[in-house]
Amino acid sequence: MALNHGSDNKRAVQAKFDAQKIAFGPIMFQAALALRNLGILQLVKDAENGITMEEISRKLELPLYGVKVLLEAGLSLEVVWVENSRFRLTKTGWFILCDELTRVNMDFTNDVNYLGMFSLTESIRSGKPTGLKVFGDWPTVYEGLSQLPAKAQKSWFGFDHFYSDYAFPEVLPVVFRNSPKHILDVGGNTGKFAIQCAAYNREARITILDLPGQLAKAAQNITAAGVEDRIDLYPINLLDHTHPFPKNPDIIWMSQFLDCFSQEDISGLLKRSADAMHDNSALYILETYWDQQKYEASTYSLHATSLYFTNIANGCSQMYHSDDMRKLIEKSGLVLAEEIRNVGVSHTLFICRKKK
Ligand SMILES: C[S@@+](CC[C@H](N)C(=O)[O-])C[C@H]1O[C@@H](n2cnc3c(N)ncnc32)[C@H](O)[C@@H]1O
Repeated sequence: MALNHGSDNKRAVQAKFDAQKIAFGPIMFQAALALRNLGILQLVKDAENGITMEEISRKLELPLYGVKVLLEAGLSLEVVWVENSRFRLTKTGWFILCDELTRVNMDFTNDVNYLGMFSLTESIRSGKPTGLKVFGDWPTVYEGLSQLPAKAQKSWFGFDHFYSDYAFPEVLPVVFRNSPKHILDVGGNTGKFAIQCAAYNREARITILDLPGQLAKAAQNITAAGVEDRIDLYPINLLDHTHPFPKNPDIIWMSQFLDCFSQEDISGLLKRSADAMHDNSALYILETYWDQQKYEASTYSLHATSLYFTNIANGCSQMYHSDDMRKLIEKSGLVLAEEIRNVGVSHTLFICRKKK
């Protein structure tokens, strides 16, 4: 069920509690992370009859004081519960510990966003990704991606790939239903989709358009997969709207890509797509729209992810509402011919054709 964002019928006592969750959010986030990373949640999970804080302190060789304050925070976080001084894991605690989606999101929050977010207000005022300076002096995160500190890079790719990995196998039969011979993978990153296409269909040629740093990594992956004869690399700064796309592809593929750009730049990218397409080409846009989520948890995550774009990625893009994209498609000489919802974890596939 989607959250009802058009009403406010919470009781005051609940509203005040929710306000405190926000007030102490960053502290409590770090507590949950420490409970996970120090192995405390794992011990609690493994203990069939619960476990005391003294036992945890002894087993993990951690000061009792530290274990005590973390477990007490864990009670308020509802990741553990306690009976007769023995702690047990709650369902929320299980998700923090064992659910891959939650792990990927927490690592992304901590390793990519946490320090930079201190300057979010500045990013809102300036339209610049002011948090990115924590890692280096690049205009956007994409120029810096291949040079990010190892932990930040691992969590960035972990976050990006988690969502697309679920979606790609589901969309391949749709992409190949009309036997395309040439696919442009715009923003193809490390080549994951292109390599899967090459394995799925032995006839197709794929051209990946991306920044040189990402293509260097893609080249290694493509060679390792042994498909370099069918995947070409096309280094390009896609923000240069005077630079046309290669002509006449059967399919232009954009996955988790247009959310990296402002609405103005999306218009430019869509127009260049339309210019490159022949009459029967299709543009496939795979995105996560915040209004099209089945679960509140997904909408919440997407609203938070938008602020990563504001503060770290580029200062000007976001996880869009599907109507934002529909308007941009309409303005760009394209029509939305088909819409497939509930792909992967939270994606929608838009299939666009040239306006006749
Ligand atoms: C979020 S990733 C998506 C990767 C992949 N398509 C997927 O679904 O997992 C966005 C990609 O767009 C590329 N990109 C962003 N800005 C770019 C630019 N100005 N020029 C070329 N590529 C760019 C990034 O390098 C990155 O590989």
